[in-house]
Amino acid sequence: MEMQEKTRGANYSVRDEIREFWSERAERFDEFPGHEISGERERSAWHALIQRHLGPGAGRSALDLASGTGVVSHLLDDLGYRVTGLDWSEPMLERARAKAAARGRTIVFRVGDAERSSEADSSYDVAVTRHLVWTLIDPAAAFREWLRVLRPGGTLLVVDGDFVGTGRTERILARLDAAARRLGWRGHEPVGLSEAMQRRHRAILARVHFSTGARADAVARLLREAGFRDVVVDRRLGAVHRAQAAQMPFFKGLARRSQHRYAIRAVKPA
Ligand SMILES: C[S@@+](CC[C@H](N)C(=O)[O-])C[C@H]1O[C@@H](n2cnc3c(N)ncnc32)[C@H](O)[C@@H]1O
Repeated sequence: MEMQEKTRGANYSVRDEIREFWSERAERFDEFPGHEISGERERSAWHALIQRHLGPGAGRSALDLASGTGVVSHLLDDLGYRVTGLDWSEPMLERARAKAAARGRTIVFRVGDAERSSEADSSYDVAVTRHLVWTLIDPAAAFREWLRVLRPGGTLLVVDGDFVGTGRTERILARLDAAARRLGWRGHEPVGLSEAMQRRHRAILARVHFSTGARADAVARLLREAGFRDVVVDRRLGAVHRAQAAQMPFFKGLARRSQHRYAIRAVKPA
C-alpha cells in the first residue's frame, strides 16, 4: 500500500517518512543502476577510492553509516576491515543480512539512527557513508555524532552528491534520451521510480537540510564546524562513474559523469 493511503499518527515526522520511503524501496534497491556493484571493474574502482583515503583494512574497525543493503559494507569487508553496518530501516537490514549470509561474510548489521546512534564513544577506526548526507534532517548533529564514535585520529569518508541541481548538460542529455527512445533506440532499459514514489521523493527533499542540493563545499564546511580536521574534497570519481555508465542507459551514463558527485575525507583530531 502506498504510504499516502495510510493513516498517520500525530507524532508522525519527516524522519518516519524518510524511513518508510527507504523501507519500501529495499526489495528492489539493488536493481537500480549505481546501487549494487555492477562488476569487477566497478568494484576495483571503489576499492581504489576507499584505499586512497582510508588505506587497507588490516583488521581495523569500520562503521558503514546508513548501510542500506550493505553494498559499501561488502567493499570494506573485501579490503580487510571489521565492518558494522548501521541503518534505521529493517527491510534494508534484512536484505543486507541475507546478502552477507549468501556471500559467507561476517558483517554485523544493526538498526540505528545515523544522527543519534547508540554506538560507544571512540569505537571505530574509520566511518564511511554513501548517499546519506543529502537526505539528513540535521547534518550538523550527525557530523558531531560521527566525530564522537570515531577514535582520535580516525577517518571519515563521505561519498555523496547534489541530486537536486540538475545542470544544463544533464537536462539536454535527458531530452536526447527521451528522443532516442521515441525513435526506437534500444540500450539498457531504464529502471526508475513510480510516479507516486517520485512525488514522495520530492516531498521529502523539500524538507531535508540540503533541499537545494548537497554541494561539496557546504558539506565540507559543516564537517569543519563539527570539529573534523584535514577535510579534503575529492572529485576524482571518474573510474567509478565510467564503470557504472557501462551498465546504464547511454545518456544516463553520460549524465552521471556530468553531475556534482564527490568524496570527502575528514579526520578526527588526535
Ligand atoms: C540512498 S540509500 C544508501 C544506502 C547505502 N549507503 C548505499 O550507498 O548503497 C539511503 C539509506 O539511508 C538510510 N537512512 C536515511 N537516513 C538515515 C538515518 N538518519 N539513520 C540511519 N539510516 C538512515 C535509509 O534507510 C537508506 O537505507
